[in-house]
Amino acid sequence: MKIAVLAGGISPERDVSLCSASLISNALLSKGHEVAFIDVYEGFEGSDIDSAFATKESGKTFSYSIPEKEPDLEALIASHGGRRELIGPGVLDICRKADAVFVGCHGGMGENGRLQAVLDCIDVPYTGSGYIGCALAMDKHLSKTLFRYFNIPTADWMIFDPKTNTLDDVKEKIGFPCAVKPIGCGSSCGVSLVHDDSEWEAAISYSAKYEATCLIEKMIHGREFSIGVLDGEALPIIEIIPKVGFYDYKNKYQANATTEICPAELSPEKTKEAQALAVAVHRALNLGNYSRVDFILSEDDGKFYCLEANNLPGMTPNSLIPQEARAAGIAYEDLCEKLVLSATKKV
Ligand SMILES: Nc1ncnc2c1ncn2[C@@H]1O[C@H](COP(=O)(O)OP(=O)(O)O)[C@@H](O)[C@H]1O
Ligand SMILES: [Mg+2]
Repeated sequence: MKIAVLAGGISPERDVSLCSASLISNALLSKGHEVAFIDVYEGFEGSDIDSAFATKESGKTFSYSIPEKEPDLEALIASHGGRRELIGPGVLDICRKADAVFVGCHGGMGENGRLQAVLDCIDVPYTGSGYIGCALAMDKHLSKTLFRYFNIPTADWMIFDPKTNTLDDVKEKIGFPCAVKPIGCGSSCGVSLVHDDSEWEAAISYSAKYEATCLIEKMIHGREFSIGVLDGEALPIIEIIPKVGFYDYKNKYQANATTEICPAELSPEKTKEAQALAVAVHRALNLGNYSRVDFILSEDDGKFYCLEANNLPGMTPNSLIPQEARAAGIAYEDLCEKLVLSATKKV
């Protein structure tokens, strides 16, 4: 098959995406597919679209390592003459030539449904979720509203608007400790845990760096788990134990910062309960051929609280879903191919 792997883009998670997508591209090449690996923002400058597709025989491989610091998007835009158009030259032409698109983006238009809507418009199948599922999963307020509707436990929350809300409102409605986060980001960009007044201002400005709308959530104390859903079924559960602090950007992407245990050490009953919740979340948000759902198992009441669903979860071989798939006997290369085949309904 001819597969366009889309990555990068104007998103705080572009580096994460370029890393994931380069490894996805290698996996698909190794399975014998023709692969075009494209940064959605930077695009393809050549005039020969066919030359964008590499083959296993060409010996081409891709690699990208994630810098410790989050990317400077304004500098990137400036280096492209200030172009703010999100889809770069040649990208859609390459997608039109492909049998399927592997959406390897994280954050921004690649994850919030806008890219998916464009792909629908040009009638090319793509991995992941449709635009509605993406839009719902990327908006933590809408997601949590649906979790409540479907009786999926989630921490109490409020939207914080600095023009109308004060810290006293937060103390009254949610209280400390709480989590402060942008409403529609990922990779823990802009997320802080606030224990007292001294941490408040920094948390609010860190969140505002990413998005004007901020969500304040009651902190849930307990073990953290993540559960992939693949073609409608839950994968083995993974437990996430950061060595220092919480599961922030650094702990997500720097090697050895976090211990991950898969399958997680949970009783068979608790395993079933969490997996059923993950599938319920996946359905509630109208997600597609894969997703990953994050939970904290509360020490206070023994319930799994859903933090969020990730409609385009990390896909390096060491990311959580590929680890879970491996525990279920699915090798990384097979997982990448399976996602494309199920997107084109060839499985
Ligand atoms: N309410 C909460 N209670 C405890 N920890 C939280 C809470 N919200 C977020 N966290 C921590 O912050 C991390 C990132 O938060 P999350 O809501 O999943 O945002 P993102 O979309 O950036 O991954 C979580 O994996 C968890 O470690
Ligand atoms: Mg998360």
